[in-house]
Amino acid sequence: MAFQLAEVVPWGRTFNEYVAMFSLDAADRSRSILGCGDGPASFNAEALQQTVKVVSVDPLYEFSVPQIRKRIADTAPTVAGQLRSNAGDFVWQHFKSVDDLVAARMQAMQIFLGDYVEGTAQGRYVPAQLPDLPFFDATFDLALCSHFLFLYSEQHDTQFHISAVRELCRVASEVRIFPLLELDGTSSRHLPAVTDALSADGRTVTIEPVNYEFQKGGDKMMRVLSG
Ligand SMILES: C[S@@+](CC[C@H](N)C(=O)[O-])C[C@H]1O[C@@H](n2cnc3c(N)ncnc32)[C@H](O)[C@@H]1O
Repeated sequence: MAFQLAEVVPWGRTFNEYVAMFSLDAADRSRSILGCGDGPASFNAEALQQTVKVVSVDPLYEFSVPQIRKRIADTAPTVAGQLRSNAGDFVWQHFKSVDDLVAARMQAMQIFLGDYVEGTAQGRYVPAQLPDLPFFDATFDLALCSHFLFLYSEQHDTQFHISAVRELCRVASEVRIFPLLELDGTSSRHLPAVTDALSADGRTVTIEPVNYEFQKGGDKMMRVLSG
């Protein structure tokens, strides 16, 4: 079935958040990076300013600027309301309040929208979705997946997760995924099976602490290395 814009709640993070979520270091900044499920994050646009080479892939990129802008306007008040109702589930350290967080997200999404048309023309925003990506084997040094895999464990089953991570491993020599929690803050039900399947493939899978925590307990990423 075709991807529906109504299925997406656009909510984009920043370059600095990606740096923290994925422990990106100076060496990583010179690697070719795939951001999978980047949606309306400003990661790609801000990376460009810092000459970091990022291609973002997301089914959201089938849609136009006005369509995405309208979807953001329609959904942001609901997300803000949910955050206010569940504020106790989050760590208010980097962001001091819901208003602070919403302002940062809206700014990130404005930066994304401002870059989207030019970035699409340059091939930096590619409309596609896991578990099938339109890239040759080993196109990228590093694939990052923020707030899609594991987070939506209820919506996507174990087999989807295994196929999706294998696909990321096909197109990149290293894969990092954050967070490892589901939306309700519990550890993803698919984590053991994905770890076992990838290890059985001969890949090295590690769970590593990172310097980022917004969902309480969400301070770890998965790193998968080929072979
Ligand atoms: C919560 S957003 C995260 C956006 C961004 N990564 C960030 O951290 O700010 C989840 C994103 O996953 C995308 N998505 C949904 N299904 C997908 C799929 N099958 N493959 C890749 N991305 C998908 C959505 O369109 C959405 O942009």
